[in-house]
Amino acid sequence: KSEYTVTCLAGDGIGPEITDATRGVLDTLTSNSDFTISYRDALIGGAAIDAANDPFPQETYDACVSGDSVLLACIGGYKWDSNPREMRPETGLLKMRSSMNLFANLRPAKAIPQLMDTSTLKPEVLEGTDVMVVRELTGDVYFGQPKGIDVIDGERVGYNNMIYKESEIRRIAKVAFEVASKRSKKICSVDKANVLDVSQLWRDVVHEENKNYPDIEVTDMYVDNAAMQLIRAPTQFDVILTGNIFGDILSDEASMLVGSLGMLPSASISGDGPGVFEPCHGSAPDIAGEDKANPLAMILSAAMMLKYDLDRPKEAQLLEDAVEKTLEAGWRTGDIMQEGGKPVGCKEMGQRVSEELAKLMK
Ligand code: NAD
Ligand code: IPM
Ligand code: MN
Repeated sequence: KSEYTVTCLAGDGIGPEITDATRGVLDTLTSNSDFTISYRDALIGGAAIDAANDPFPQETYDACVSGDSVLLACIGGYKWDSNPREMRPETGLLKMRSSMNLFANLRPAKAIPQLMDTSTLKPEVLEGTDVMVVRELTGDVYFGQPKGIDVIDGERVGYNNMIYKESEIRRIAKVAFEVASKRSKKICSVDKANVLDVSQLWRDVVHEENKNYPDIEVTDMYVDNAAMQLIRAPTQFDVILTGNIFGDILSDEASMLVGSLGMLPSASISGDGPGVFEPCHGSAPDIAGEDKANPLAMILSAAMMLKYDLDRPKEAQLLEDAVEKTLEAGWRTGDIMQEGGKPVGCKEMGQRVSEELAKLMK
């Protein structure tokens, strides 16, 4: 295939800025390649609430499922934080994930030599870190029913339900086994089975599924210990398999193994139909509109899109290499600034990546 259609969701906060930077880099890629990408912009999150009174409009869904892939920046912001739940940006994101059946979220965190000292952790701890968090994305306490805030016995009671069906655990476990079989064949499954029944089922099903992948070694770890181990000795991990909420928290933590949340990409995939490629970070309202955001997480998400949805592994590698060269050349947004770094804004960072990419493609 040589003509792709990508639905582009710029969302809120720093979303439009990092989207422009990423599109610029993709334009450089396609203008020197044998394939084209045509974009369809669509609304999600706060932008969609303002324009269409719906955080995930039907037209956006239609655009997403009819294209080859979806590139998403980020959603959310103070403006919508006190809206009723169904009118919040986050609800739009969750609707997208569940309606597109994006049950698997891959969040790689690989230490980058050039950024060793932008992390708050010691370089000798980070050296050699290469973790892939496989996060279940359409179940858990995020989606469990019943949920709500009710008045019970004269006071307000808030509740959500942490729930997993066997089939949901099995299908995400399969993804982790497949991922692990192409890496170091080691999975650490993270749960809270000492306390939670849902976690006991998680653990049981993961080990049942392990019988179908006898060459993969599975260990289990409680999530509280995992949170500690991840910063104590991150190189002990390869694939981390976990549920929706634990994966959300551990992946933000894992971003410090790289140096900044602004570096962490992700792929949200279903196995059939288009995936959604989105940075792990949010809309960073504290720096939005100031040309300060780091676009590299989204650029690296675009690389994951090339690899997983557009079947262009060579071009994906080129993008990753261009990012590495840009870091080698010393260009730094504020979040990854270090001694001797050359300060750039979001826009210029995109241009610098394009320059490096153009050199690599000559
Ligand atoms: P956040 O990820 O937006 O920001 C956390 C911190 O990291 C902030 O200091 C921010 O400036 C910094 N940061 C994040 N991305 C950066 C980047 N690319 N470059 C430089 N610095 C970056 O998390 P938050 O502040 O807790 O949430 C803000 C909003 O984003 C909320 O509405 C939240 O619901 C939403 N959110 C959305 C997503 C998503 O779209 N996938 C993910 C997380 C949070
Ligand atoms: C993420 C975000 C989302 C999540 C929110 C915004 C719903 O934190 O993509 O990591 O919790 O999954
Ligand atoms: Mn998160």
